[in-house]
Amino acid sequence: MKVAVLGAAGGIGQALALLLKNRLPAGAELSLYDIAPVTPGVAVDLSHIPTDVKVKGFSGEDPTPALVGADVVLISAGVARKPGMDRSDLFNINAGIVRNLIEKCAATCPKALIGIITNPVNTTVAIAAEVLKKAGVYDKHRLFGITTLDVIRAETFVAEAKGLNVDNVRVNVIGGHSGTTILPLLSQVEGASFTEEEVAAMTKRIQNAGTEVVEAKAGGGSATLSMGQAACRFGLSLIKGLQGEANVIECAYVEGNGEHATFFAQPVRLGKNGIEAVLDYGKLSAFEQQAMASMLDTLKADIQLGIDFVK
Ligand code: NAI
Repeated sequence: MKVAVLGAAGGIGQALALLLKNRLPAGAELSLYDIAPVTPGVAVDLSHIPTDVKVKGFSGEDPTPALVGADVVLISAGVARKPGMDRSDLFNINAGIVRNLIEKCAATCPKALIGIITNPVNTTVAIAAEVLKKAGVYDKHRLFGITTLDVIRAETFVAEAKGLNVDNVRVNVIGGHSGTTILPLLSQVEGASFTEEEVAAMTKRIQNAGTEVVEAKAGGGSATLSMGQAACRFGLSLIKGLQGEANVIECAYVEGNGEHATFFAQPVRLGKNGIEAVLDYGKLSAFEQQAMASMLDTLKADIQLGIDFVK
């Protein structure tokens, strides 16, 4: 198994690389790429950790050497939010970065499973799909927007609020990955019930959790450590699926059946070819139905922006 991290010298990339060095299956390879010249040094640093995972680092303009033979590519290259910005403010810079990196993936590792972290995820995943289509290698089962951070935040906050063991709390988060497009399905959390006020407040907290971190870091960036953990969990799940493990389920922003929008975050079962099945997320409460209805125009516009960018 070979995992490539693009944007590996950044806040998320370094945290993710550290976690993967410690948690990838024995014999795996970790390939780190970033335009920052420090990247080969990040790899040397990690290579002193005694695990059976080989690490190589690459910098410069061309990611190709890092992508050769990659089974999984995780992309966190780009700029992060500062206070006062929302994720759509990142579009101008990050759209072009994602387009260029995906062109290289299409040419070098067209069968790899690609997980996109770079924001705005609602749009960058649509960009990636269009670029892969242009190259004639798009497979909707192999492209993912990583929304796992929304899931782990929801699970953490619910466990804290309800005094539950977080290991046993599961929350599906559907929709997209920004503001009101993030929809945690609190009505379905086993072992926890919420008043209407609690649902409204908890939903809002989960939707704004990224901003909570951006403001607390006061100009020093956005979520990196929790995102590193989230991307590691998701990346390891992709690998478990590739290795044939049964019942590997994660929420991710993917092209599903198009019922609500072309791309939609929902639970999927992962397998040897990426998405094995898009899973039903059950019945929505009245609050969730309303939240879904009022978010869809935003989500669709975010997706269209990505499609238009590539055209
Ligand atoms: P950062 O600024 O610490 O790191 C970004 C890295 O990307 C830098 O090392 C930079 O050199 C590199 N980079 C820039 N252009 C590149 C290119 N063309 N090729 C390769 N590398 C390039 O930012 P951080 O905090 O790691 O965030 C990265 C991205 O992840 C941001 O877009 C941020 O909004 C997003 N993010 C996504 C989350 C999610 O839930 N999906 C959560 C948190 C952040």
